[in-house]
Amino acid sequence: MRGEDIKAFREGRSLNQPEFAGWLNKNLGRKYDKAKISRWENGTEKVPAPVISFILKEKIGIVTKHGPALICVAANRKGGVGKTAFTVNTASLLAKHFKVLLIDADPQANATIHLGINSIQREREEKTLYYALRASVEAHRAHGKAFDLSEYIVTTDGGLDVIPSGMRLGDAEAELQSQSSGDCALRECLDDGARQTYDFIFVDTPPHFGMLTRNALTAATTVVIPCQTEMLSVTGVEFLLENLDMIRRRANPGVNVIGILPTMFNARLTQDQASLDDIRRLFGVKMRIFDPIPRATVYAQAVAAGQAALAAVPDAPGYEVYQSVVDALIQERTRMPEVMTNVA
Ligand SMILES: Nc1ncnc2c1ncn2[C@@H]1O[C@H](COP(=O)(O)OP(=O)(O)O)[C@@H](O)[C@H]1O
Ligand SMILES: [Mg+2]
Repeated sequence: MRGEDIKAFREGRSLNQPEFAGWLNKNLGRKYDKAKISRWENGTEKVPAPVISFILKEKIGIVTKHGPALICVAANRKGGVGKTAFTVNTASLLAKHFKVLLIDADPQANATIHLGINSIQREREEKTLYYALRASVEAHRAHGKAFDLSEYIVTTDGGLDVIPSGMRLGDAEAELQSQSSGDCALRECLDDGARQTYDFIFVDTPPHFGMLTRNALTAATTVVIPCQTEMLSVTGVEFLLENLDMIRRRANPGVNVIGILPTMFNARLTQDQASLDDIRRLFGVKMRIFDPIPRATVYAQAVAAGQAALAAVPDAPGYEVYQSVVDALIQERTRMPEVMTNVA
């Protein structure tokens, strides 16, 4: 968002610069003044990410109700690249302003555990994604049988709704494989309401291209590719893009890639810098490459603390980058045809 966009937004609300500063301060708990607003508007100072995010939300919030959801999938054919960290942190940031559902589609249940949810207990109660998918498939088979996704949802303290994972989800790989439209089980499950009631749905995926990842990509509106700044993750991106072409041809022609998010970047290491250069050179013409998320202990500490790093430490290293991804997702959602039709 540029200075002139801020100015247009302010003038559209008939606020002068001091009034606009007061309005922002009231909503964001900051101490901006007229001089600051003026510097943003004439481009001499960068508009802070929380201000951009708040204004985008206000613009959209005025004209739309909740839903339909933009379904965002984090995928890379390599494990340990920051997919779960991306999903948990981005979903948590958006949940401050929007209705957000996070679906943990990785049998390792990392996102579930990261958010402090007891995966084993939920599995015992048969309230994990595995059971939600099974019930949804059964309901579709017995046309008209009621299926209620809300039974499977846990709401975290931060207001984020989660469908947890558990080990049993590993069995879904083989079970979905044996079904004729096994690729579409998650899409059908979300079509029964969630797609219309949430603003954003995030799906965390395992690294291999099995039925769970296919299901996520088949349901997706947009894909984010977290990519550690090291060579093997870059190869994982290439494999994923091939898989995505297949998904587009067979099941989901509209799915796009919002960008690559380089992760765990250490600016002091020449090999990290070389990998970042590779990512920009190989994929930069085709898609957006976000600034890199730095390697920082707060992300690993947050897993142990059972909450998103950015919920525990709002100004953690990488916050600005996450915020830029959040803004890109908000903008992407406004382009969805169903959201456009809600605009007055
Ligand atoms: N920016 C970061 N800096 C340091 N450690 C990170 C960062 N992002 C993620 N991690 C840690 O790296 C490991 C792998 O990240 P994770 O998000 O689980 O990857 P994936 O889901 O792709 O397997 C986890 O232990 C996580 O806590
Ligand atoms: Mg993961």
